[in-house]
Amino acid sequence: MPLLIKNIKGLIGFEDQPQRKRCGNDMTILNQVSDAFIFIEKQKISSFGRMNEIPEALLQKNSHDIKVIDASGKFVFPSFCDSHTHIVYAGSREQEFADRIRGLSYEEIARRGGGILNSAKKLHETTEDELYDQSINRINEIIQQGTGAIEIKSGYGLNTEDEIKMLRVIRRIKESSMLEVKSTFLGAHAVPDPFRNKRDEYIGLIINEMIPLIASEELADYIDVFCDKGFFTVDETEQILLAGIKYGLTPKLHANEIDNSGGVQVGVKYNALSVDHLERSGVDEIKTLLNSETMPTLLPGSALFLGLPDPPARSMIEAGLPVALASDYNPGSSPSGNMKLVMSLGCIKLKMTPEESINAVTINSAYAMGISETHGSIAKGKIANLFITKEMSSYSFFPYAYGSNLIDKVILKGEVIS
Ligand code: NIG
Ligand code: FE
Repeated sequence: MPLLIKNIKGLIGFEDQPQRKRCGNDMTILNQVSDAFIFIEKQKISSFGRMNEIPEALLQKNSHDIKVIDASGKFVFPSFCDSHTHIVYAGSREQEFADRIRGLSYEEIARRGGGILNSAKKLHETTEDELYDQSINRINEIIQQGTGAIEIKSGYGLNTEDEIKMLRVIRRIKESSMLEVKSTFLGAHAVPDPFRNKRDEYIGLIINEMIPLIASEELADYIDVFCDKGFFTVDETEQILLAGIKYGLTPKLHANEIDNSGGVQVGVKYNALSVDHLERSGVDEIKTLLNSETMPTLLPGSALFLGLPDPPARSMIEAGLPVALASDYNPGSSPSGNMKLVMSLGCIKLKMTPEESINAVTINSAYAMGISETHGSIAKGKIANLFITKEMSSYSFFPYAYGSNLIDKVILKGEVIS
């Protein structure tokens, strides 16, 4: 049924001329219509504007033809796009959380066979149905928290069968949930135990067996590599990306989290859609990114959780780059997919303004998952993924009140979900 939301105190993030991303100074542009309406039909945004411009015909329609929501005192935002997650995983890793509190580092835990390998073991012991059930619970949680689109990575399988199991679960989420879902193959997340002393063989398996199979079943949109110290080198990354590209998979990289790894440069070289993390990056990485279409994506939740240095968001924006923010939802470095909190961390930790942070979790993160033509802002013809807030004084109250649940109603594909 068509949906009319009226008397909106502030309609946030609208675009008359939709942009694919916002860069540098433009990140401060956050359009707002005060005292607004929005009209949604057939899953899409049909029109919006000021209440005094609302077509009379819309107001005349009766309740059998149209659903009406009065949003007096409330704001409407485009849904969050979470462009980097590992939300499909088995079990949890709070034991490692406690170990880190006692002083062990993330790398040390990984060296002892914990970390990603620990999750791989749990995933191996979990059936596909059970993995789906665990994951869909998390999906339902993030829908309530305002996320409307999500990228999900494999990477806790680390053998052909289990990687395919993960990607099939991602496909089931795509088919069964109201979210827009993109899928990324991350076989190169860690070298699994049986290949510890023969990493070339594992890379061969990724290139010669996993990628062709995944491509033939159309199980992935993108390919990712954890290009960092202790995981995969720049040369190895290059080989894996080339193999993925040959099968139509666009790169998105984990880069510069643990070390100044060269990941940004190799990502840009292969036209990556995004390079993500970037805690250890500086002037060279910024220069490289300036000559590219690659979206720098920062994950302040994992920097906070692991106590990493904050990535240089301000220098990036001041140099003219766009910045996207994502949750990195995973059991080891960021056990939360709360994008409202990520947006607040953008402000609090990365010194991004409310306008910059809001753009970073909507239009720029939509770009980082290849969907900014249909998602990430309020524009005519875009998919109607949005949420209505509780009553608030201004849009800046939303990132400011970082611990409050301020979401009143979620609307996905034009349907009121809750
Ligand atoms: O993005 N850095 C690599 N991968 C994940 C963490 C995975 C894990 O610890 O399970 C990340 O932080
Ligand atoms: Fe990640």
